[in-house]
Amino acid sequence: METKVLIIGANGQLGSVLTKTLRNKFGGKNVIASDLIMQENSEGIFEEIDATDICRIQEVVVQYSITQIYHLAAILSAKGEENPLSTWEINMKTLFNVLEVSRKNSIDKVFFPSSIAVYGEDAPLENTPNDAYLNPATVYGISKAAGENWAYYYFIKYGLDVRSIRYPGVIGYQSLPGGGTTDYAVDIYHKAVLEEEFSCFLNEDTTLPMIFMEDVIRATIELMDTPIENITVRTSYNVSGISFSPSEVVAEIRKLYPDFSVNYKPDFRQDIAARWPKSIDDSRAAKDWGWKSEYTLEDITIIMIHKLKEQYELNSKHLETLLHRN
Ligand code: SER
Repeated sequence: METKVLIIGANGQLGSVLTKTLRNKFGGKNVIASDLIMQENSEGIFEEIDATDICRIQEVVVQYSITQIYHLAAILSAKGEENPLSTWEINMKTLFNVLEVSRKNSIDKVFFPSSIAVYGEDAPLENTPNDAYLNPATVYGISKAAGENWAYYYFIKYGLDVRSIRYPGVIGYQSLPGGGTTDYAVDIYHKAVLEEEFSCFLNEDTTLPMIFMEDVIRATIELMDTPIENITVRTSYNVSGISFSPSEVVAEIRKLYPDFSVNYKPDFRQDIAARWPKSIDDSRAAKDWGWKSEYTLEDITIIMIHKLKEQYELNSKHLETLLHRN
């Protein structure tokens, strides 16, 4: 049977890039992007789906004979703390809806992203093992830890092939993150290219696990392509990219922009970051599906600066053309 993919949360930081990759892999007509609202620049098949509405997911799954679902919609760590109960409600309800629709429609594979946010202060901070104790201290982390267990439950009880990765902070030039504790590591590059001062909401020495967009997309595809018998982790796989602190990324940026100026104003996100791992052990992913990251902080910095510069220059050229036309 032909693979037909539904992506829920396709407008997000990861969703927008993953949609393009999956369209290249499976063909445009076989990948249905969805989110709460359709964006103006949206390309390809798009359906508006509020994932808290199970009937709407069911309708689209039947309409397109969907065989795989990527459920990327969630409220992230920092944003989630503004309203903990509604974050729990949204993150869990959307997951239950996806799992139930998948079970009832015999979906082949489901992808559910988890996060390094599942860890809390009782896990080792360095090289955190896949099976370390989980006591998350954000509602986002709690919902991801619970979600991992539900993924496992649907696999053992119903045989639903749910696969998951604990994403580190994702860095990419293609899209903007929203509401996360690791978002500073994207914003900082935008400020550097715009030659503006950057105000950092974390302390300069707060080391966190991060990953480049190209690596994270490849990890996701590699996991989804792995033969089912090789998958031994049914909660979620640790996947590591690189670890760095704000001062380390600043030092890399200053190689290209020596005058780049930063001030540190840690806020509540510092407390969230302080309980997360500094680096993680991804040996289970390496063993089961050959995971290995490819991008260093230096690579990421060079690519981010180059691509963002290109984007800002294109935008200002576009603006100039528009102004001259009028
Ligand atoms: N990037 C996420 C966040 O900061 C972690 O998964 O919330």
